[in-house]
Amino acid sequence: MDWYNLLKFIHVTSFAAWFGTVFASLFLLKTLEPKLTGSREDVAHHPQLLQTFIRLETKVADTGFKSTVISGLLLAFFFYGWSTWVFVKIGLVALQLALTMGYIIKQIQPLAYPCNPAEYRKWYQLFTISLSMFALVLLVTFFLL
Ligand code: HEM
Repeated sequence: MDWYNLLKFIHVTSFAAWFGTVFASLFLLKTLEPKLTGSREDVAHHPQLLQTFIRLETKVADTGFKSTVISGLLLAFFFYGWSTWVFVKIGLVALQLALTMGYIIKQIQPLAYPCNPAEYRKWYQLFTISLSMFALVLLVTFFLL
């Protein structure tokens, strides 16, 4: 058994699963936008639909996040070593978690539907934060690590 390849496999597939759920959520939010920013009649059961989706998404994203971090730490400990860029990566991941969780609690959870398009844009700002942090971590991974 090649533990190095196995860990790398877990690290990259967990990241891909986590990353995939972010895009799936973005597409669903875009699809539901006319319903969730429309009239009271339009909104119907769409908020519950979004809630159910987010609950399922969170399960996969949480597991993907934890597996990515644990396998990353094991890769550094057993094979790669603790270079400065590994610490930069850890710092960026911690920052990504703090920024996205903070934004969800402060700006997303208080949203009630239907809301106006300006309020709905907060969702897209959340994805901007999340995807920018992914881009930074991937740039460090492929060009500096
Ligand atoms: C605490 C968090 C993390 C730690 C400690 C960590 C650590 C590492 C280490 C040490 C490697 C190098 C393996 C090697 O080439 O020998 C690696 C590879 C990789 N990491 Fe992470 N990582 C973390 C989080 C992430 C995150 C959040 C992402 C995605 C956004 C990510 C994406 C990747 C990818 C795609 C590779 C493969 C690079 C390649 O094969 O050349 N890592 N990680």
